[in-house]
Amino acid sequence: MPVSLQQGSFIIAGLLFILALAGLSKHETSKRGNILGSIGMGAALVVTVLATVFGTEDHGVEIGHAAPSWAIIAIVAAMAVGAVLGIAKALRVEMTGMPELIALFHSFVGLAAVLVGWVAFLEDSESANPGLHAGELFVGVFIGAVTFTGSIIAYLKLSAKMASKPLMLPKHNWINLGAVAAFLAMTVVFVLNHDNRPVGYLLLIIMTALALLLGLHLVASIGGGDMPVVVSMLNSYSGWAAAAAGFTLNNDLLIITGALVGSSGAYLSYIMCQAMNRNFISVIAGGFGSDGAVVGEQKDYGTHREITAAETADLLKNSSSVIITPGYGMAVAQAQGAVADLTAKLRALGVKVRFGIHPVAGRLPGHMNVLLAEAKVPYDIVLEMDEINDDFENTDVVLVIGANDTVNPAAQEDPSSPIAGMPVLEVWHANQVIVFKRSMATGYAGVQNPLFFKENTAMLFGDAKERVEDIIKAL
Ligand code: TAP
Repeated sequence: MPVSLQQGSFIIAGLLFILALAGLSKHETSKRGNILGSIGMGAALVVTVLATVFGTEDHGVEIGHAAPSWAIIAIVAAMAVGAVLGIAKALRVEMTGMPELIALFHSFVGLAAVLVGWVAFLEDSESANPGLHAGELFVGVFIGAVTFTGSIIAYLKLSAKMASKPLMLPKHNWINLGAVAAFLAMTVVFVLNHDNRPVGYLLLIIMTALALLLGLHLVASIGGGDMPVVVSMLNSYSGWAAAAAGFTLNNDLLIITGALVGSSGAYLSYIMCQAMNRNFISVIAGGFGSDGAVVGEQKDYGTHREITAAETADLLKNSSSVIITPGYGMAVAQAQGAVADLTAKLRALGVKVRFGIHPVAGRLPGHMNVLLAEAKVPYDIVLEMDEINDDFENTDVVLVIGANDTVNPAAQEDPSSPIAGMPVLEVWHANQVIVFKRSMATGYAGVQNPLFFKENTAMLFGDAKERVEDIIKAL
């Protein structure tokens, strides 16, 4: 295969990835963005496999050897197994299981980067600049190993297979800093001794083990409250790991793709940090969120009041302005379709209905927006927290559908609360607040919610979808 064809396809794929990111940044264009990204990835995959199978040449001069037949069989088998597993998982995964699946995928990227780095070292191939090559390889293995174990811990925490409680070893920040300092020192020694194989082996083994442990420790010491930032942070790490593998393999497309994922993940982490009112360093330093026990349970908040679906329907009928603030429970109940129907019904009755979306509602960035878009709720009535927070006081009824932490006034009122300082939707300023949930249980951060006990709040217990359908019937 001519190398120019390979490089040309890589440039086109890189452009398609950039267009995909641009498309994904808006609801209206997200489907198109997704399709462009898939075409780019498909093209990259086909060209890479063809170049591996047939080799590459430049004006008749062979540059890359054709793969031996056993390697081709291995590639086809790996792709077949990967495709079967990937399709089976994608067909079965619920929207609520998406974050942990993404975390698991990040771990594969990390593992791939570690393997690429190790294979490059074991191959000991010729390089025009062996010092630089050694540096790229060493850094790639480090980022990959941190991403690998960090993502596995994130997967376990997000899927509740492991308590989200932060692991607080004594001097844990110093452990992290020490590990990074040791890595930097080892990188210098590795690069300076790039032609000394025994030293290289020793350093690579020690550093890989250190990075694997650092990944474990880094994410284990981050509390439940910071998991949204961790997901996007690992997304970014996986990009940098891929870019490092691209340098090792001399593959421009992998460098471009890795850099795109790395920088967009870093930007997403920044947005998430702002949403949680946290700075990135304190997220890494860990410990934010509950220690697994319910916080605030022992305080006496008074009693809560209950309401029925029929009474809620009456309230809604007589309102002129309603805001719906959905949360993770709407995703669990798969209530988005019913919520969209209720919205349409109320709008037909002349009620002004809008949605208030907290940046970390649900379990992954944009979770609520995706569900509402899927249910065909018009985009123009779906507003971000900052756009709607001042409007609650002029609102008749707020329907809190399966949200908890994101509407918790303790974040503002109780400086000792584990979520103190996190911006929240100030729903309690409305005339009436109706909270849809199944029990008085806490949300993800394990913090009791004083909203449930406020005078203008009533609880509508039960599965969110069933209750919303009851209201539609009563209307
Ligand atoms: P949460 O605080 O997680 O609360 C969800 C509530 O939904 C629960 O209190 C639960 O109460 C209720 N619920 C569950 N199933 C339900 C059903 N079938 N019907 C009705 N209610 C149901 O939700 P939130 O306000 O969206 O906050 C999100 C939390 O997740 C934040 O702490 C955030 O930091 C964290 N987090 C977010 C992300 C991202 S990126 N968005 C990632 C990881 C973690 P019952 O059990 O009583 O029904």
